[in-house]
Amino acid sequence: MNQFTRSDFGPDFKWGVAISAFQNEGAHDAHGKGVSIWDAFTARKGKIKDGTHARSACTFYELYLDDIALAKEMGFDVFRFSLSWPRIMPNGTGAVNQAGIDFYHRVIDACLAAGLEPYVTLYHWDLPQTLEHKGGWCHRGTVFAFESFAAVCARAYGHKVKNWLVLNEPFGFTSLGYMLGVHAPGKFGLSYFLPAVHHVALAQAEGGRAVRAEAPDARIGTTYSCSQIIPYTNNQNDLQAARRADALFNRLFIEPALGMGYPTDAFPLLKRIERRYALWRDWEKLPFNFDFIGLQNYFPLVVRYNAFMPYVQVSEVKARYRQVPLTALGWEISGQGMYSILQQFAAYKGVKEIMVTESGAAFNDVLQNGEVDDAGRIAYFREYLDAVLLAKRSGVPVTGYLVWTLTDNFEWAEGYKARFGLVHVDFENQQRTLKQSGKWFRELLKQPVRKG
Ligand code: NOJ
Repeated sequence: MNQFTRSDFGPDFKWGVAISAFQNEGAHDAHGKGVSIWDAFTARKGKIKDGTHARSACTFYELYLDDIALAKEMGFDVFRFSLSWPRIMPNGTGAVNQAGIDFYHRVIDACLAAGLEPYVTLYHWDLPQTLEHKGGWCHRGTVFAFESFAAVCARAYGHKVKNWLVLNEPFGFTSLGYMLGVHAPGKFGLSYFLPAVHHVALAQAEGGRAVRAEAPDARIGTTYSCSQIIPYTNNQNDLQAARRADALFNRLFIEPALGMGYPTDAFPLLKRIERRYALWRDWEKLPFNFDFIGLQNYFPLVVRYNAFMPYVQVSEVKARYRQVPLTALGWEISGQGMYSILQQFAAYKGVKEIMVTESGAAFNDVLQNGEVDDAGRIAYFREYLDAVLLAKRSGVPVTGYLVWTLTDNFEWAEGYKARFGLVHVDFENQQRTLKQSGKWFRELLKQPVRKG
């Protein structure tokens, strides 16, 4: 039994699925596409846990019509995907690859023909490798390159696409790629992380302005990864550690966009960014008036003080030591965490509208007799959707929920083992099979929606 019906969310609530270019498309060198940092990173030994790469991924480049049809079949109204920067601009700047532009026209047209609203992400982590050679996000030139890429895209598709997302999870890709080195481009340390953070914060605003200039009627958002932060104990050290973690995980990118600057109050080390870029008067360029923000929450984090952790002095108390329900990636399942972080983001004065632009879970799915019985995933969606509804009823302006993800795909450093899809993919033959969770959504979305 569901605790809710589709109608409870209201007639205007948007239901959708989300995918990304690198994780789904494959066709890594087709029709003039350039190399991305993820093409380069996956070619390095030992970087991907199961030793795989995404040269074919789930062949969305060829099967986009089938995949869009699957989203339609389940009754969704939004299809979120990203544009591959090196497919459109193989060298990051300058020449535009017409075949790349044409591909996304086909994808957008297919969405519109199916009655699915396209939500287009400009940057979902696949930076052109030529830009990485010049320093990637640590280099200021990448901000200008991104601005021109955003302008090219908005000019090409602005008359068809209303909803834009500038960046996908800026904290995700700067921390994993430039601080911890476990994602592309595999850099680690503060000397990479701090400049990357600043250039990415600038890029979110400049990218927004570029889209606005080309498509004045666009609705422009950007997405944030976020987690409820729970101090392990109530002692002062743990409480302070939790504030530092919150500054990094939740506040680092949204606050500059809202004109609040970096959260130096809770994490004074960020003053180094302010000092370093003082000359450029960048503070004036960081704010952008987003029409909505995309919130992406998977798990809460329990943290404690740890004097030995460099810079942050915080460590995570892993979920697997806390006797809580877990996904296959060891992430804690907590609708309460979703509820709490929705409240936290809604409390910002400048946040007008929130859309959950990703939500989902990896489980060890097995295809047996043509079925995938993923009851755990259904329970997960029930719990998280319940939390979203509760938040909505309490006044949080949450207007939609996009499932991560449509089909099983390439889960970055985890490879193909972590399956997040509503649709199972057999990576040997690209066969798609709707999981029970996909059927569950189909039933939910079939329900009539009461108007008014
Ligand atoms: C966040 C990212 O945007 C997406 O690419 C990733 O696959 C999911 N979370 C799951 O980890």
